Amino acid sequence: MCGIIGIVGRDGVSELLLEGLKRLEYRGYDSAGIATLVDGAIERRRAEGKLINLERRLAEAPLAGSIGIGHTRWATHGGPTEGNAHPHATDRVAVVHNGIIENYQALTAELTRKGHVFVTETDTEVVAHLITDYLQQGKAPVEACRLAFHRLEGAFALAILFAGEENLMVGTRRGTPLAVGYGDGAMYLASDAFAMAPLTNRLAYLEDGDWVVLTRNSAEIRAADDTPVERKIHVSNVSAALIGKAGHRHFMLKEIFEQPQVIGDTINAFVSASTGTIALPDLPFDPAKVPRLTIVACGTAYYVAMVAKYWFEQVARLPVEVDIGSEFRYRDTPFEKGGVAVFVSQSGETLDTLEALRHAKRAGQHIVSIVNVPESTIARESDRVLYTLAGPEIGVASTKAFTTQLTVMACLVLAFARARGTISHEREAELALALREVPARAAEVLRHDDAIQALASMVAESRDALYLGRGTAYPIALEGALKLKEISYIHAEGYAAGEMKHGPISLIDDGVPVIALAPSDALFEKVVSNIQEVAARSGRVLLISDADGVARLGGKVRWSIELPKVDPFVAPILHSLPVQLLAYHTAVAKGTDVDQPRNLAKSVTVE
Ligand code: G6P
Repeated sequence: MCGIIGIVGRDGVSELLLEGLKRLEYRGYDSAGIATLVDGAIERRRAEGKLINLERRLAEAPLAGSIGIGHTRWATHGGPTEGNAHPHATDRVAVVHNGIIENYQALTAELTRKGHVFVTETDTEVVAHLITDYLQQGKAPVEACRLAFHRLEGAFALAILFAGEENLMVGTRRGTPLAVGYGDGAMYLASDAFAMAPLTNRLAYLEDGDWVVLTRNSAEIRAADDTPVERKIHVSNVSAALIGKAGHRHFMLKEIFEQPQVIGDTINAFVSASTGTIALPDLPFDPAKVPRLTIVACGTAYYVAMVAKYWFEQVARLPVEVDIGSEFRYRDTPFEKGGVAVFVSQSGETLDTLEALRHAKRAGQHIVSIVNVPESTIARESDRVLYTLAGPEIGVASTKAFTTQLTVMACLVLAFARARGTISHEREAELALALREVPARAAEVLRHDDAIQALASMVAESRDALYLGRGTAYPIALEGALKLKEISYIHAEGYAAGEMKHGPISLIDDGVPVIALAPSDALFEKVVSNIQEVAARSGRVLLISDADGVARLGGKVRWSIELPKVDPFVAPILHSLPVQLLAYHTAVAKGTDVDQPRNLAKSVTVE
């Protein structure tokens, strides 16, 4: 999703802006640009495609200046062309924007009637013209922005630069995130802490509706009603080193291999060192009295919700409803009094999930979130946050965030089960132990990297792939299929194995690899039948199971990957790893852009 950086600083600002944009690349984008003031006049450089194109443009025509704004654009209104790339500008104002200005057509019509000429297909350009219009009416820049902000509808973060104002920048946020960075003789605005990592670690996150006036030495923040407010300055622990590749070819591979560590860190945060049992922070409700749980998320995080449904229902005997954010909030679902709604999000900024959270909050539900990015909007708007300690996840395809989300969810399930009296002490201790052993087992799974790489060359030649699983392996099958299509662009579908015979079996032929996730659990024999149905129709099956499963089925499938035998409760965490590696190596074999797949954004802050 679009990334913003703004700097009121010293000479040479364009290099700093470009570096900042590189740290925002992970969010996903398809064009980029920067604007600075050169002798008081707005100058821009913009380019289609990756930042290397902008970098070349800047090498050909360098941009001086001590104040500037930069942007990576993920196209919404208007194609990813240079003309539509931000910053958008008039001769008096330049703007970068993340989000959508919903009333841009009405404003554009109004300003066109007044003589403003629009040259792009974007919704953003109207912001530059609207502020310019107020300047033309004799308003000072800050007042012009204030008036303009009150006329904008939608979700947006903005950073604004003014011709002739070398020591003034204005920013605002509504819906999408924006943080203020406090430097030494320089001030910053950015979409996230990564963008500012080497510049400053002192950040204030703007609240919804806030707007801010920056100079080199000050930041004055106003709330949505224009009253001055203080926002807490946090010391961010995001360092530039944390967002390096640590010798790996791609962020995604680095993040896959970090999983034993970060799953362990996450478990340690929720397990009592003295007893080895789950010890969550106090919940603002009594789990024993919760009538129903609603779990909402988007994308990969939604599959965590699906696994959680099996876990909560089986282990904590609690009815669970799961949904994707974009459907949930418009479904007008009846809520039960005292209900709990759980939101799962790596970024903590996904707008569909955030709006679903607000919807549940308005309906009086207790709000719990499982989030990776501290101080994100979802974290701040929840009654209780359970953080995944995955560290920065840069690869667009989520890996370590997914498995740490599953880990936190497993801890939450055990806490609920204990409070509801649905689990014996012995069984709870067994499951807590199984969880504590996941990091070591995950490290064993990753040793199959070479074998999976070899299989990936076969998958890379396919046009379609199917992933099958039952029980908690079913959401992992969906996740495996999503990973493969996201980064290798191979069409892939995940199915509940038992559903094969009701339709998708007609797709089976020897050109379609079928990846069967089959831990030897209570459903194993059923999956065996489903796999045999595939094998009988010349389907080429890759079995992912444990030693018992491979022994039982190995002779009937074309390939198999043997995972360590674990309690079925934690099996979905471990089964996630081979499907991540398979997607990764397939994408590498196909030569796609693994960390920044086409059209995708890391955190989607539009509806
Ligand atoms: C985007 C990303 C997905 C991610 C989803 C939810 O679509 O491309 O990888 O799963 O958003 O993101 P969140 O930050 O809320 O977990």
